[in-house]
Amino acid sequence: MVELALPKNSQVKAGKRHKVARGAKRVREFRVYRYDPETGENPRWDTYEVDLDACGPMVLDALIAIKNDIDPTLAFRRSCREGVCGSCAMNISGRNTLACTKGMEELPTGTISVSPLPHQPVIKDLVPDLTTFMAQYAAIQPYLQSDAPDPSTERRQSPEERAKLDGHYECILCACCSTSCPSYWWNGDRFMGPAALLQANRWISDSRDDHSGERLDALEDPFKLYRCHTIMNCAQVCPKGLNPAKAIAEIKKEMVERKL
Ligand code: SF4
Ligand code: SF4
Ligand code: FES
Repeated sequence: MVELALPKNSQVKAGKRHKVARGAKRVREFRVYRYDPETGENPRWDTYEVDLDACGPMVLDALIAIKNDIDPTLAFRRSCREGVCGSCAMNISGRNTLACTKGMEELPTGTISVSPLPHQPVIKDLVPDLTTFMAQYAAIQPYLQSDAPDPSTERRQSPEERAKLDGHYECILCACCSTSCPSYWWNGDRFMGPAALLQANRWISDSRDDHSGERLDALEDPFKLYRCHTIMNCAQVCPKGLNPAKAIAEIKKEMVERKL
């Protein structure tokens, strides 16, 4: 029988409240998802009051302030703090984005909720397990495959050929798009998801690559590609302003055209 409610040990409980030090003038409340599988306890929402005069303006700054000054047990990923590495992707007030480029002032007033990227197993707190996501990226063989002998100079492209890579190479593999895609939620083990498909199209579109036929063959499958139903969540959330749905549509078009 289909289980429509979360099992009891997955239900998110109310957690602890961490009050700000007395005297703070500008305070913002954060509601943060906490889960540590090693304790055997249910996940919970902890509440932190953050002194905005003691931290930077981004959501990541607040999380770092929480970890440094309030609760060192909070776990999250971050590296570059510049929107380049993709590691701080999380769900902030209901939308997947990068914590390091999301300003607190951009969010509606009131409590800011922070939870891990949705529909992925949680390793701890805000750290999702992206093993499947990364395996899907590896599966599209994200490297040049040329049958030409190794050249003695760079492999050149015309400006038009190079322009076809725009909208693809900027992807930082943050997983915001795939984890906001309903088709990926339900079939994440078989549908490649928007990030891997955008990357696949990056190589299919590369004039220096000789294996676009094999790349298309590998995606010719009812689930891997065709589970995209053009819902467009992926394009709405991409923090780099990319449009994975368009890349997917281009692959589908290639599939049709090569049969004509
Ligand atoms: S397409 Fe955008 S949202 Fe998706 S992984 Fe790449 S950068 Fe992240
Ligand atoms: S357009 Fe396709 S890949 Fe993007 S969110 Fe919708 S179903 Fe998912
Ligand atoms: S810390 Fe690198 S993208 Fe946010």
